[in-house]
Amino acid sequence: MSATGVKIAAVGRYAPERIVTNADFEKTLETSDEWIVTRTGMKRRHYAAPEQATSDLAIAAARDALSRTNLTAQDIDCFIVATATPDYPFPATACIVASALGAIDKPAFDIEIACSGFIYGLTVGSSLVRAGVYRRVMLIGAETLSKITNQKDRGTAILFGDGAGAVILEASETDSFLSSELGSDGMKPELLQVAIGGSRRAADAAALDAGEQFIRMEGREVFKFAVTKMIDATDVALRKANLEKGDLDFLIPHQANRRIIDAAAKYLEMPPEKVLVNIEEYGNTSAASIPLALSEALDAGRIKDGDTIVFVGFGGGLSWGAVCWKWVA
Ligand code: COA
Repeated sequence: MSATGVKIAAVGRYAPERIVTNADFEKTLETSDEWIVTRTGMKRRHYAAPEQATSDLAIAAARDALSRTNLTAQDIDCFIVATATPDYPFPATACIVASALGAIDKPAFDIEIACSGFIYGLTVGSSLVRAGVYRRVMLIGAETLSKITNQKDRGTAILFGDGAGAVILEASETDSFLSSELGSDGMKPELLQVAIGGSRRAADAAALDAGEQFIRMEGREVFKFAVTKMIDATDVALRKANLEKGDLDFLIPHQANRRIIDAAAKYLEMPPEKVLVNIEEYGNTSAASIPLALSEALDAGRIKDGDTIVFVGFGGGLSWGAVCWKWVA
């Protein structure tokens, strides 16, 4: 084992074809385009087809990332899928993804920490590379949240969408990983959870009738927590990297609510052009939202060699995290 730096060698993404607009929700729920746009910033989300599972989205994003390199799946030493919507309780979705891509006998595992999944995964994957354990790690944030969303609950139905983003982490002489700040508070899991189907409560007929297989959320509580933790985690990550707010070129936040992002950006003194937001198009795609935004920004030529980025997220757990990253082209 030898210590080295890490960089992101390639990024890919995939979003399912079907688009659900605010106007579609106006037909089925007591809501309006105006309410959704002002309260969340969302206009559309992509929904997986009935036959599409999370691994299908993850595979498509991973193939997109690989297609931007000369690598094959066999050149990847380890696969990590961050998801709150795995194909099955077990086996891990990452095993299915790695094999479908053509990787043989490679280590593969999931990270389940809800919407903080990409930030945790970036910390774990980068650490594996920097410690010299693996030369290349494929980290994929992938979700099919539409499948665990109660389409009759206007408080949550409008928020969530499906998608996947993949990054290839690779050993490098220069080190992109500047710092990480992760945290969790499990005192109130009920603030944001799927309450049944685990070892605490079975998905029995009564629970299913009550719609408990779907996401349950205390929106206002989560909102307050999210703003505070986005700011705190970013502050600490910057401090750990010996940087100040003014040194930041881009903030790439988890896309949960435009107002949460704006409130955090205001405190962090980040002008709008430095905050990457694509919530309008995808809604909240949990662990996929940050790599989706990164992928689009790269394709648009917005991120340049040497840029300093903070990736920051939060979600069920409750959980949160920020990673400070120096972009190496
Ligand atoms: N359309 C119209 N009205 C709606 C609505 C919808 N889709 N959803 C909720 N409302 C209503 C509520 O019922 C409430 O009505 P009332 O005043 O008659 O009780 C009113 O709007 C205000 O509800 P409130 O929950 O205070 O709204 P809000 O401004 O907090 O916005 C969220 C609701 C869910 C958009 C917001 O709380 C939020 O984004 N929270 C964080 C969610 C999040 O980030 N989750 C994922 C974390 S990874």
